[in-house]
Amino acid sequence: MWNEEQMRNYLKENLSQGRYNHSLGVEDAAEKLAKQYGANIKKAKIAGLIHDCAKEIDKKEILDICRKNGVDIDYVLEANPSLLHGAAGAIMAQKVMGVEDEDILSAIKNHTIGKSDMSLLEKVIYLADYIETSRKFPGIEELRNAAFRSLDEALILSFDKTIEVVISRGNLIHKDTVEARNFIICKVAKEKDYNK
Ligand SMILES: [Fe+2]
Ligand SMILES: [Fe+2]
Repeated sequence: MWNEEQMRNYLKENLSQGRYNHSLGVEDAAEKLAKQYGANIKKAKIAGLIHDCAKEIDKKEILDICRKNGVDIDYVLEANPSLLHGAAGAIMAQKVMGVEDEDILSAIKNHTIGKSDMSLLEKVIYLADYIETSRKFPGIEELRNAAFRSLDEALILSFDKTIEVVISRGNLIHKDTVEARNFIICKVAKEKDYNK
C-alpha cells in the first residue's frame, strides 16, 4: 500500500486545490470522530484522505471504471454518474494505491450515497465528509455539535440535509440513501425504547 506521502502527492496531482484541502479536512475530521467513537484511527485517516480520489474523473470514465469492475449500476446511478465517485474511488484506492483493507474500501465506496446498516468506519467517513472545517452551509454548526454528541443522530441530520438538497435541485434520490436514513432512525428509536 502507498504511504501517506504518496497518497497526498497523487491527490495534489489529480484534484483541484480546493478539493485537496477538503481531503485534508476530512482526514482531520475523521481522526477526531474515530477517537470519539472508538473507530480505528489509522484506517479513518487513510479513508478520509483518499475518499474523493476519483471525484474529478469525468463521468464517462467513472461509469467505465465501475462497469469494468462489476459495480451494480442502476438507472439512478446511470443518470447521475457522479454518485459513483465513491465506488470508483474505492476501485482506484485498491488498484492504484494498493489499499486492500475492506473497512477502508467500503468507507470510501459508501461515502457518497450511504447504505443500510453502515459500519462504524463508514459512518465516520460519511460524517467527516460533511463536517470538515471548509464546509459552509446553513445548519453546519448544529451538525458539527451533533457529530460529537451522537454519531447516529448526526447521520440522520446529514441524510435529511442531503435529501432536502437533492429534492430542491429536482434530482433523483438513490434508494440506498433512503434506506441508510430509515435504518438509523429505526436503530435510534429502538435504543431509546430500550433505555426507557
Ligand atoms: Fe465525495
Ligand atoms: Fe468529500
